Amino acid sequence: MIIGVPKEIKPYESRVAVTPAGVKELSKNSHTIYIETHAGRESGFEDPEYIEAGAKILSSAKEVYEIADMIIKVKEPIEPEHELIKKGQIVFTYFHFASSEQLTKAMIDSKATCIAYETVEKADRTLPLLIPMSEVAGRMAVQEGAKYLEKQYGGRGILLGGVPGVQPAKILIIGAGVVGTQAAKMAAGLGANVNIVDINLQRLRYLADIFPGNVNTLMSTEYNIRELIRNADLIIGAVLIPGAKAPNLVTRDMLKEMKPGTVLIDVAVDQGGCIETCRPTTHEQPTYEIDGIIHYCVANMPGAVPYTSTVALTNATLPYAIQIANQGWKKACKMNKDLLKGLNIVDGTVVYEAVAQAFNLEFVPVEKFLK
Ligand SMILES: NC(=O)c1ccc[n+]([C@@H]2O[C@H](COP(=O)([O-])OP(=O)(O)OC[C@H]3O[C@@H](n4cnc5c(N)ncnc54)[C@H](O)[C@@H]3O)[C@@H](O)[C@H]2O)c1
Repeated sequence: MIIGVPKEIKPYESRVAVTPAGVKELSKNSHTIYIETHAGRESGFEDPEYIEAGAKILSSAKEVYEIADMIIKVKEPIEPEHELIKKGQIVFTYFHFASSEQLTKAMIDSKATCIAYETVEKADRTLPLLIPMSEVAGRMAVQEGAKYLEKQYGGRGILLGGVPGVQPAKILIIGAGVVGTQAAKMAAGLGANVNIVDINLQRLRYLADIFPGNVNTLMSTEYNIRELIRNADLIIGAVLIPGAKAPNLVTRDMLKEMKPGTVLIDVAVDQGGCIETCRPTTHEQPTYEIDGIIHYCVANMPGAVPYTSTVALTNATLPYAIQIANQGWKKACKMNKDLLKGLNIVDGTVVYEAVAQAFNLEFVPVEKFLK
């Protein structure tokens, strides 16, 4: 198959969909890979590395889209890319269709086959192409928290791990899923005093077994959260209710109970946030202050570490990309039920029910296209 990898053009996006290591694997499977020039530069991969791995470099996105049977991307195609997508072309990327009617209609009109990273789903209902970004954001939350707790950023001026003879910082993590667990792991490793809360007791039992003694697990109740915020130096919001807005677990009135210079990091900001006073920020201006409390609510945290994010994402997407390239999308989706869930639009028809419902569009079950 001929595979095309364009440079991402969405503002602030520095990742690339395939690394030189990925090119090598695809080449070994007898596929031809065309990369747009400098597509990997911001993630630390230059054109010569791609050439050495077996790719051919093209000078424009237009040429990449023209030649490829399958386009592999990171972000959803934005307007200048819509007209480049061809009928019958496979587009494998994050789409988040339910949040954009314009994108959904453009992809219907293109008659391309759209396989969305975010809906590829395993039998245990986990989302293997979202997990790597949650891992990055969870670990980063502690790193950013440590930075903004420094005095010059408005924080309390406390070192996460303390030093001998001085108390370490107290961290409250709300939500013990992928983000929360990775945050707890980093914070515990730095020697902080960690409280992690969730409504899933089974999950808390598991974490209590695997984490060291400086991580305490508690049930997520308003009572417990009110108690814990009073002493916390850093609070990390990491809650997810699939398909719904995150609940406001840290409310406006709680700010006055906190110590001045407390840092709030709402990782769940992309789902509306679980801290009432959270509003989305960018890496250019990541924080703002309300009542002496520092808020960090960057909606695309992994964007700050494109090397790590690119490698983490491609580690997860590559096996699926190879399967699609080797077998074609129909056979690959028949053989691999994870990928079948990723199919959102086929030949101008929406085959993912939630997307059709979001915009009142015709829905046709995907099985009809697999014959
Ligand atoms: N800002 C970013 O750059 C970025 C990056 C990656 C992920 N995220 C977001 O981070 C959030 C968490 O993602 P995840 O992968 O960890 O999800 P996850 O499903 O693995 O974990 C969510 C956890 O929240 C818990 N939860 C639900 N209601 C709760 C409540 N009332 N109190 C406490 N816990 C509760 C669930 O039991 C679950 O353990 C999501 O909104 C995700 O989109 C943001």
